[in-house]
Amino acid sequence: MKIKKLIIGNWKMYPASLKDAKAKFTAIKKVAGKLANVQTVICPPLVYVSEIKKFVSGRRIVVGAQNAWFETEGAFTGEVSIAMLASVGAEYVIVGHSERRAIGESDELINKKVLAGVKAGMTIVLCVGERERDPDGVYLKFITEQIKEALHGVQKKELKKIVIAYEPIWAIGKNAIHPASPDDALEVSILIKRTLADLYGKDGSVIQVLYGGSVDSKNAWEFILKSQVNGLLVGRASLDPKIFGEILKSADTIK
Ligand code: PGA
Repeated sequence: MKIKKLIIGNWKMYPASLKDAKAKFTAIKKVAGKLANVQTVICPPLVYVSEIKKFVSGRRIVVGAQNAWFETEGAFTGEVSIAMLASVGAEYVIVGHSERRAIGESDELINKKVLAGVKAGMTIVLCVGERERDPDGVYLKFITEQIKEALHGVQKKELKKIVIAYEPIWAIGKNAIHPASPDDALEVSILIKRTLADLYGKDGSVIQVLYGGSVDSKNAWEFILKSQVNGLLVGRASLDPKIFGEILKSADTIK
């Protein structure tokens, strides 16, 4: 069976109203619902997840979360658990996004979230990526370590519930230093697959690898075609239904 391209929209802390979130989702769904070769996932702010879930029909576009806490329940003021999100219909959860690592999430915490997510039956979108590139290639070792730490204790049979998104921090968001090239992404997608092969043998190949960082409607096809990734994690461009729709359509046409 052919694996669909996986295109995930990370809405970050946008938009500012539920009304706007519903309108964006509905507009994206109109395009996503027609595409047989793409699995679309929208990760809105946590507070919108269960409302947006009501607009889901069929499997072509589903809802995920951008973050969650690893304990099922307890005295954790202000947190929302992975189990809670699963219970309102979220199917994916982003773990270890650089914007969360930047506010203190450690590899150890990220590992706990990965294990809890797998247990709850969610698909984990594990983000890895370096802050900067050095000529000696230390960043490659850094990414390898991020993966090893995050997957510590994950069993072979659970691997199909893991997706790894390569997101170089220098290429993310409106303060990106410069966009990554498809070759930059290719180098690391190969590294990720090699690391997974070291950890899990050929079973590691079930893990899908994505690229994220300043993806737009003009460069999306190039990353998919040239970087040996199976999809994209899209930030800003996923908030514009027209642009995101174009990204989805270009992913759909790539065989
Ligand atoms: P960007 O963000 O597409 O806006 O660069 C990507 C991300 O942070 O996931």
